[in-house]
Amino acid sequence: MRTNIQDSVRSETEDFREHVLSGLGLESKRIASRYFYDAEGDRIFQRIMASPEYYLTRAEDEILRERTDELIEALVNGYERFTIVEMGAGDGTKTKHLLRRAIQQGRDPLYVPIDISRHVLRELEMSLQAELPQLRTKGEQGDYFEAIQGSFADDSEPKVILFLGSNIGNLDRERAIALLKGVAEHMGTRDRFLVGFDRKKDPAIILNAYNDAEGHTRDFNLNLLHRINRELGADFRVDRFIHAPVYCPSTGRALSYLVSSCDQTVHIPGAKEIIRFREWEAIHTETSQKYDDRMINDLARNAGLVVAEIFTDSQGLFLDVIFQLDQRSA
Ligand code: AVJ
Repeated sequence: MRTNIQDSVRSETEDFREHVLSGLGLESKRIASRYFYDAEGDRIFQRIMASPEYYLTRAEDEILRERTDELIEALVNGYERFTIVEMGAGDGTKTKHLLRRAIQQGRDPLYVPIDISRHVLRELEMSLQAELPQLRTKGEQGDYFEAIQGSFADDSEPKVILFLGSNIGNLDRERAIALLKGVAEHMGTRDRFLVGFDRKKDPAIILNAYNDAEGHTRDFNLNLLHRINRELGADFRVDRFIHAPVYCPSTGRALSYLVSSCDQTVHIPGAKEIIRFREWEAIHTETSQKYDDRMINDLARNAGLVVAEIFTDSQGLFLDVIFQLDQRSA
């Protein structure tokens, strides 16, 4: 057992090293946003979610808190027992509104939270145990694409799949379609898929959400370099990089960069060569897509899904869209 854990930690580190070395070897340097979430990244992300500028979490929490009964009806209709699979569960705050109410209504949900962070999953299971002791749970650690497969094994209960928080926004169009399709392939006609989308809006509001005044988003972005130093033994001078978010209103993409403020070199053990940064050269670290109705319908159509119902917050900032299988493409 012990060696298994050690081996899996070692291979995660080596996957990370390989990813960083190949990403920093590209003409346009980049590192994938999934590497933000080590224990420190998880902590900083909590601060982002609590910041006044980051409206996404509050807007979606309002939907799940204020529209709970309607949501449950749209998701599981007459069923007492159902499985609720959540991709990227995080701290589960929003989902707890649904779970608590479903149990109050005398239902018996099985909750399957999936997250890339072991640390986050452990905390979630502990809080569920304390707050909803009657709830059946079965946490799964891993990449969404891998973990999705395993959690669809039990066919005896209708399934609700949740992909909240506009996590889908980290995927480009092709990957988003592939993810929706991958889920759709495992859905039956009674199953429902709830996806959170952050909407296009005043570009200043969006940009501020990725550039909060207290600097939590800056810390979150820079933590990636600290993590590379900590885990891979690199020597990034983190104070020589600048957090630079931009928002492009025509594509709806919020992009985050780490920009080198001078000519500099970095050593990463395992790299064939020294990594060089020219002054003002950037590393792309995240894309957070913002959506309009047309884009959501395009994704659905290409995944064999149709919109069953749409919920929004009182300010219309965020959408929780419930999809079902498109019977015509079945
Ligand atoms: C968790 C991917 C939805 O893109 O808004 C927050 C992550 N990055 N601030 C987002 C994030 C910077 C967040 N998602």
